[in-house]
Amino acid sequence: MVGAIFGSTVGKKAIMATTGVILLLYLIAHMLGNLRIFFGEESINRYAVWLREIAEPLLGYGGLVWVIRVVLTLSVVLHIVTATQLARRARQARPVRYATRPKVQGSYAARTMRWGGVIIALFVTYHVLDLTVGWLNPDFEHGEVYDNIVVDFQHWYVALAYTAAVVVVGVHIRHGVASALRSLGVTTARGERVVNVAAIVFATALVVGFLSVPFSVFFGLVG
Ligand code: HEM
Repeated sequence: MVGAIFGSTVGKKAIMATTGVILLLYLIAHMLGNLRIFFGEESINRYAVWLREIAEPLLGYGGLVWVIRVVLTLSVVLHIVTATQLARRARQARPVRYATRPKVQGSYAARTMRWGGVIIALFVTYHVLDLTVGWLNPDFEHGEVYDNIVVDFQHWYVALAYTAAVVVVGVHIRHGVASALRSLGVTTARGERVVNVAAIVFATALVVGFLSVPFSVFFGLVG
């Protein structure tokens, strides 16, 4: 059963889509959680504690956070593995390479997604070391989420790095959502337009929500 899902192109696409949805739901929740910074220090710091306490009777303090980490890590690994395998299959479907590679939309999108994925993976590694573990943030203090964010984004280069990474996340999601919706069977030109607009609106909302935090700190609206 598991072998059949992993072995087929449709199964791999289903795994990619499912893990993509899991990662997307996490990003929506994370973005909304970050907006608590606009309600003050107490609000965002309490939220971080609440996340660790909420399943305490069942999983112990911080247990839920660890469950989320495991689910996210598995999702990221499966998303990357299936994406790589599907890209390889698509290439093998044409064993003779094109002599000149026309800049068609498909190959442009594939390249963007591949490099976007690599940049996002590098960003998440940096981000965890910056705001969760604190190794890359000299002023980091455990539990002081508000202060850690405010100190971080007062440096223009940190704000800029986050801005660039979040835009890459937005581009990746715009394409991912559009092609997932298309896989569900949108065939008409009108359907195609609706899918594209929906993907752009969704990705833009996510990017603006995320970027409101570094921008507000950098321009002194928060802090
Ligand atoms: C400007 C935007 C962002 C801000 C201000 C931000 C802020 C934070 C903070 C403060 C934490 C630590 C929370 C805590 O310890 O309770 C965190 C964790 C995390 N963030 Fe972000 N984040 C941003 C964007 C992103 C993006 C775009 C992604 C993914 C592509 C991401 C992925 C994560 C992950 C996976 C964790 C959990 C790390 C862990 O606890 O193991 N974040 N973020």
